[in-house]
Amino acid sequence: MHHFQHRGDDLYCEDVSVARIADAVGTPVYIYSHATLTRHFQALDDAFSSVPHLICFALKANANLAVLQLFAGLGGGLDVVSGGELYRGLAAGVPPERIVYAGVGKTREEIAYALRSGILMFNVESDQELRRISEIAAASGCTARIALRVNPDVDPKTHPYIATGLKQSKFGIEIGRALEEYEAAKTLPALDVVGIHQHIGSQITMIQPFVDSLTRTVGLVRQLRAQGTDIRYIDIGGGLGITYRDETPPLPLEFARALIDVIRDLGATVILEPGRVLVGNAGILATRVLYTKQSPVKNFVVVDAGMNDLARPSLYGSYHAIWRVHRVSGRDEVTADVVGPICESGDFLAKDRTLPRFEPGELMAVMSAGAYGHTMSSNYNARPRAPEVMVRGNQFYVVRERETYADLIRGERTLDGC
Ligand code: LLP
Repeated sequence: MHHFQHRGDDLYCEDVSVARIADAVGTPVYIYSHATLTRHFQALDDAFSSVPHLICFALKANANLAVLQLFAGLGGGLDVVSGGELYRGLAAGVPPERIVYAGVGKTREEIAYALRSGILMFNVESDQELRRISEIAAASGCTARIALRVNPDVDPKTHPYIATGLKQSKFGIEIGRALEEYEAAKTLPALDVVGIHQHIGSQITMIQPFVDSLTRTVGLVRQLRAQGTDIRYIDIGGGLGITYRDETPPLPLEFARALIDVIRDLGATVILEPGRVLVGNAGILATRVLYTKQSPVKNFVVVDAGMNDLARPSLYGSYHAIWRVHRVSGRDEVTADVVGPICESGDFLAKDRTLPRFEPGELMAVMSAGAYGHTMSSNYNARPRAPEVMVRGNQFYVVRERETYADLIRGERTLDGC
């Protein structure tokens, strides 16, 4: 459920018309619904209420400070994967003791920064990283809380680019070797082994891969406990899918029931790292039609948003529903590609979509764009990145300004200026 609905012929986000925002802020623009974000967080939080848990939002999905602050206010923490993400989280006021840090390539500087900040734990992805964290913690006279990210070798049945828990993927430590690594961790200085982590992929629409991988991970936890390693946190990662088109992912309650069954008797704190499920359907990308054109074999609707604004269709062939912001009756239907202004044929937001004919100047909503939308946007073709707007009730707030041309060259110099 989300709060983007037509009232009469006009699309609203909560109680604000999308056209009003587009007129005030310009297009393209990302628009987020405060009520939808809140609802999604609370639904997941309630679903896990029977076990101690912490929702660490994966801000790679949506890193806007207003979004981070909202979730922190609801009791959430963060899953970060870089020093920059940690910086964003702290800037939004997220308590460091609610932040976990994953990623296969943490640098010395990033590790030191996270240690200084007092994060909850590092999700460690290799034996070399484990040693590096130990070394840096020992040198700075502190202790690093760690979990090992295990790779359970489970097929999440999703797009291959976003499957992360298969043995051929770069993530985590092979589950068969994990016991050995835990033993090594206990002998290294300045480490406090507190948890275990897994994350098997993204946009997963079935429960079974989650249950299978968690069952394997829990088996390992029991062995670890038997050997005297106290695993207090079981971080089950993110990955729960959403409906972009006709997918039927499990509801938070079904998801929680199935997983809680596997872990309840361990008495550990469950950490969740949802990204997409919290923000995906809480955001849209509003864009304006510039031109329509026909080739001998195709119709095109050229809009002012491109693959630099929303990379998912080009990168993964992802489907995003296209809605008219203002519905009109009596328009014939046209099958067209919705394309952006970028100089590549891969620059499309929708392919072969049958829609009531769009005319230049009309507004279009690219739906389900709240996750991996703005965070994956770029300045390709020297295009300033789009602003972000948060709607709450009948008010809207520009929570990130549109970049200017001056922003595009900030920090650059010609050789004469060096
Ligand atoms: N935890 C870890 C360690 C992750 O790597 C990810 C996502 C998440 C949590 C959150 O996963 P989610 O709940 O959002 O599925 N750019 C792609 C998705 C890449 C996901 C990367 N890792 C897309 O647009 O579909």
